[in-house]
Amino acid sequence: MTKTGNMSAMAIEEWAASGSNHFLQNDLDMLAEVLHAAVHAGASISFVLPFSLDDARAFWRERVLPGVAAGTRRLLVAREGGRILGTVQLDLATPPNQQHRADVLKLIVHPDARRRGIARALMTAAEASARSAGRTLLTLDTVTGGHAEPLYLSLGYQLAGVIPRYARKALSPELESTSILYKELHLETARPHTVDPGAPAPGLRYS
Ligand SMILES: CC(C)(COP(=O)(O)OP(=O)(O)OC[C@H]1O[C@@H](n2cnc3c(N)ncnc32)[C@H](O)[C@@H]1OP(=O)(O)O)[C@@H](O)C(=O)NCCC(=O)NCCS
Repeated sequence: MTKTGNMSAMAIEEWAASGSNHFLQNDLDMLAEVLHAAVHAGASISFVLPFSLDDARAFWRERVLPGVAAGTRRLLVAREGGRILGTVQLDLATPPNQQHRADVLKLIVHPDARRRGIARALMTAAEASARSAGRTLLTLDTVTGGHAEPLYLSLGYQLAGVIPRYARKALSPELESTSILYKELHLETARPHTVDPGAPAPGLRYS
């Protein structure tokens, strides 16, 4: 595991399927528990009830781990005292003409651990991870009026638009709208104040 940031006892890690099978299985069980608990608390993150722990395990094992192993998906986890309390993913499997872009997926914090800044820390780490992968445009969708929307807006995401009646609620059949958001991680050219014709070309840095 690579530690990419921390907040008091909480560490944000970029997850890799290394270590013993026992370690891997424990992490998968904890990720499944976070997903399962969030869906049962009403999170709009693709799934609807009935949704079992086995369904949640299958999601991580079949839909996420292959991408992590292939290097096309980054999985970040927030861990405290060994326990995974939150997670977010970056999907890097974009088409050839969008290699500067990544999708932010499945930002989830366990219902027992919310309002402690864990989602904000995960998103900050995800942004750093995107930059390190050379991605300068982040895109995502989130339920309109949900708790995540003000977080994304406060982090500088722009609202591209709202699609009405986009997805079914997790706990009931009503349809909810989704907000499409994006954030550009500008690639800035550091320019010297005075131009020295003999000076090397200005370097590039991410803002
Ligand atoms: C949305 C979610 C990830 C927030 O996790 P969290 O760790 O509690 O969030 P944080 O403590 O980092 O809060 C960050 C910001 O989110 C917003 N926010 C989070 N929970 C909120 C709530 N219950 N009501 C209003 N705003 C809320 C606030 O803007 C907050 O900033 P503030 O604390 O400065 O006011 C969590 O509620 C969750 O897992 N929800 C279900 C899954 C989901 O909808 N994910 C989004 C998928 S796109």
